[in-house]
Amino acid sequence: MEIQHEVSLKGHTTFKTGGFARLFCCVTTRNELEGAIEYAEIQKIPFYVLGSGSNVLVSEKGFEGLAIKIAIQGISFMDHGADTVRMSVEAGMSWDECVQVVVERGLYGLENLSLIPGTVGAAPIQNIGAYGVEVKDSIESVEVFNIETKSFETFTKEMCQFGYRDSLFKKREGKKYIVVGVRFLLSRKGVLKTEYKDVQNYFKENGGEVTLQSVRDAIIHIRTHKLPNLELLGTAGSFFKNPVVKREVIENLQKDFPLIPSYPTEKIDYVKTSAAFLIDKIAGLKGARDGDVGTYQNQALVLVNYGNTTGEAVLAFAHKIQKEVLEKTRIVIEPEVQTLGF
Ligand code: EPU
Repeated sequence: MEIQHEVSLKGHTTFKTGGFARLFCCVTTRNELEGAIEYAEIQKIPFYVLGSGSNVLVSEKGFEGLAIKIAIQGISFMDHGADTVRMSVEAGMSWDECVQVVVERGLYGLENLSLIPGTVGAAPIQNIGAYGVEVKDSIESVEVFNIETKSFETFTKEMCQFGYRDSLFKKREGKKYIVVGVRFLLSRKGVLKTEYKDVQNYFKENGGEVTLQSVRDAIIHIRTHKLPNLELLGTAGSFFKNPVVKREVIENLQKDFPLIPSYPTEKIDYVKTSAAFLIDKIAGLKGARDGDVGTYQNQALVLVNYGNTTGEAVLAFAHKIQKEVLEKTRIVIEPEVQTLGF
């Protein structure tokens, strides 16, 4: 494992912003990860764990510590009863490559999560979700490294405290754990979830049989058209979470905006609404731009780096959107994206 000095974090995040990490290393085994943390502790410097950097916004000040990129690879399958297969994947594998392998093997559960950027290790941290499916639905357990006890531990799904774009690993008490691998339970005879409006429209327009592979193809098609191409533009996908608010807040807004989405939550008096709708239809900020940062023209929830914007400028633009939405709706929208170095 090589420790590099002064490495630009721009090239290690999909937002393509930010300064330098004082030190940087790429770990390819669990032992190397342990070694990297030990190194940071001996040097008395902070460390930050990166996957593929697809959900983080980095400041131009950079990071005065050791950035550790998790590149541990590996995938294995084992029968688990007649119709279920257990898949164990190391944290550094690309999420979409993993989904592709799963679909090619005829296993159900992850197809709706096709083409989400990032690594397998990052997936449980924010409980990635799309098109009516969340990764927690297929997770059996998560393997972590505990930086306090220096031991590897296995967390059952229940212990992970999964919620909407949330888990134990995003909370303060969960910060001492680094995800090193994920175990999934996948089904040979799953049920395909195609209720989501965009997916329904795709099959109406394109016809064809609804199969595991065609659902993956549909999701890839939808995402490719709605979300920016990471090769061409800097972005971290949805910048904000969809807010959960009191039912009466939405009922009030419905008087002026009858189409405002409202989805049930576990709590009877609360509903989840669409941050994209608030930003687009109420605040009128879809496609808004401030220099090189803006909301994407096809999806208002997505902030885009159109060229050479800074982490600071993205954050200032995000605050402007939050303020505008708050003034117009009295609803607070919270970032989904993590920040580093601010
Ligand atoms: N809408 C607008 N304007 C827009 C976009 C959407 O008004 O510019 C409204 C429409 O009413 C639409 C509704 O918002 O029906 C929902 O939009 P969409 O289906 O695009 O989903 P979303 O709630 O904005 C969430 C996830 C996405 C995920 C999609 C599809 C979050 C924060 N985002 O977006 O995840 O792909 O659902 O399931 O939950 C990500 O997390 O990075 C991400 C892209």
